[in-house]
This record gives sequence, C-alpha cells and structure tokens, in this order.
Amino acid sequence: MRTLLTRSPQTAAKYILQGDIVAFPTETVYGLGANVFDENALRKIFIAKKRPIDNPFIAHVHNVGDIELLAKRITPSAEKFIAHFFPGPLTVVLPKNDSVPMIATAGLPTIAIRMPHHPIAQALLRDCGVPLAAPSANLSGKPSPTTWQNVLADMDGRISCILKGGQTRVGLESTVVDCTSKVPVVLRTGAITLEQLLRIVPSTRLSGRKSKEQPKSPGMKYRHYSPQARVTIVSQPAEIKSTARAAYIGIRSFGRSNDFLLHRVCGTPKEYAHALFAFLRECDEAKISVIYCQSVEARGIGLALMDRLQRASH
Ligand code: TXA
Ligand code: MG
Repeated sequence: MRTLLTRSPQTAAKYILQGDIVAFPTETVYGLGANVFDENALRKIFIAKKRPIDNPFIAHVHNVGDIELLAKRITPSAEKFIAHFFPGPLTVVLPKNDSVPMIATAGLPTIAIRMPHHPIAQALLRDCGVPLAAPSANLSGKPSPTTWQNVLADMDGRISCILKGGQTRVGLESTVVDCTSKVPVVLRTGAITLEQLLRIVPSTRLSGRKSKEQPKSPGMKYRHYSPQARVTIVSQPAEIKSTARAAYIGIRSFGRSNDFLLHRVCGTPKEYAHALFAFLRECDEAKISVIYCQSVEARGIGLALMDRLQRASH
C-alpha cells in the first residue's frame, strides 16, 4: 500500500470515511485513527501496529457533546475533569455505550475518551463527523511518535495516509484516569499532572501496581517505548561507566559532551519530556548501544517522565 502524506485534514477525513486508517498529530503524540463505529477499520489498526488484540483504544471526540455517543453516563468526577481539562491531554474512562463495538474497548465495559487540543486534530475530527479511535501511531513496543517522520519510519506502506503537523508540543501521552468509581484512579500518568488532578478532585489516587485484579489499563502490562539500544537511568555522572557508542539525555550535562555520540541537555523536565521519544529513535538511527537518561524528581511532569524511562529501561 502507498502511504500518502498530506497537510489537508479534509483529504485525511476522506480516507477515514471510506474505512481506512490515518495517522494525525495531537498535542501529546501522533495517533493512528479510525472511525470508532467501523469494526473493519478498527481491525486495520491492530494489524498496522502489530498491537495485541486485548489492548483497547482511546476514542477522540471533537466536542464535549460527542461524549454522549460513546459513554453511557458522565460520572461526577469525570464531569469536573472534563470542565477543567478538555480539550487537552487528559483521557477519562467511563462506562461504555452499547453502540461502540466491543473491539474498540477490547471487550471492556468501559471506554477511554479524550478531546485533543491540537488544531489539526480538531479539524480532522470536525471533517470526519465521527469520533476516532486512536492509539499512538507507533509499531507496538516502540516509542510513541512525536513527528510525522517518526510515524513514517514505522508505518510507511502499512497505512493509507499521514496527516502532517509539526513536532508535538507535549511529547508524552495523555494522562488516563478511570472515572467509573467514586474515587478517580490514575491508570497512566501523563501530561496532566497528579497535582493538577488533585486540585480538582482531592480524592484522586494513583493505581497500585500490586493489585490482584487484572491490570485495569491493559496497555500498561506490555513492553513499551523500547529503542534497540539499552536504556540506563542515571542520577549522577559517576554512574556512567563506558561511553563507547553511548548517548546521553538529561536536564543537566553529565560528563563531557564530546564523549557521547549523541548528547542532549534539556534544561527542564518539560523540555526533557518533549524531546525524549524522538531522541530514543534518533539513537537507534545512529546505532547507539547504550542511552544514559538522567533521572528526574517524580513530581509534576517528572512522574510521567520517570514512568516512561523505567518502561524503556526494562
Ligand atoms: O496521548 C494519548 O493518549 C495518545 C494520543 C494519540 O491521543 N494515545 C495513546 O493511545 O497513547 P495508546 O493506545 O497508545 O494508549 C492508550 C492507553 C493504553 O494503556 C490502554 O490500555 C488504555 O489507554 N486504555 C484504553 N481504553 C481503556 C479502558 N477502557 N480502560 C482502561 N484503560 C484503557
Ligand atoms: Mg501507545
């Protein structure tokens, strides 16, 4: 299949409406979208991404009113989060409507919903006129794509169309919060921080890893964000043993930049989050064998950043 590159949301929407799948930019990472009500198109996403069939998608809506097409009801905590953070990098999990095909939610009775803020994503959703199921547009297991070139590297020949935008603003995925019970539970940390959620609903908690029940967010059990190179998290320069075919990314400079094949100093956790995924991919292109990543304080965006670094390092 030939993969068309376009800057026109209208062109991309034509593909969606004829049952094809399209990659598009959001403020977090690029998504790979299909009409959420089209089972056949949803199947194409699993194939293109080589995604395990038990991992559900996030449904993207154009406006708050469209949530009713997907969710049976909007719970009180979701109501508050939606009022504060939509459109933006937050995903709420709600009881699913019967009209949404089971394959979209991998058989779960719940559905994850988000309203992206990115103007190109908004234009695409408007032109489609239907919500789009969209996981990140990478091959399963790879770092999420933050540029259209990253999408092309994974998806060339596997999907019909890539809607081009710039590098995504946030660089990490949305925060996923389960709003189906009284106490909201953060299933995946992300761009909206725990501190921000707590200000709106003070009882919000992080999901425990130890729970005996099956993981509530199926995607979190899979290997993720993994470049070919080994990822090693370091908190001080002394932990960097060998710099042979090595790369470094962090907030401050560790050691001499000339010792590394690739060296990126980001200044702030926010900038680090923005740069990380594209940097991991750059390291693979440069055939790096070890990537040293500076650890950051696990608060604010740092909590999500550390989560991604830990998953990448396994
Ligand atoms: O920023 C983002 O969220 C990006 C952009 C494209 O919107 N999307 C994204 O999708 O990261 P994906 O599929 O890579 O990650 C979705 C996560 C997975 O961990 C999945 O298991 C979880 O959300 N999820 C989806 N539906 C769920 C549900 N009903 N209950 C619990 N977790 C769910
Ligand atoms: Mg993903």
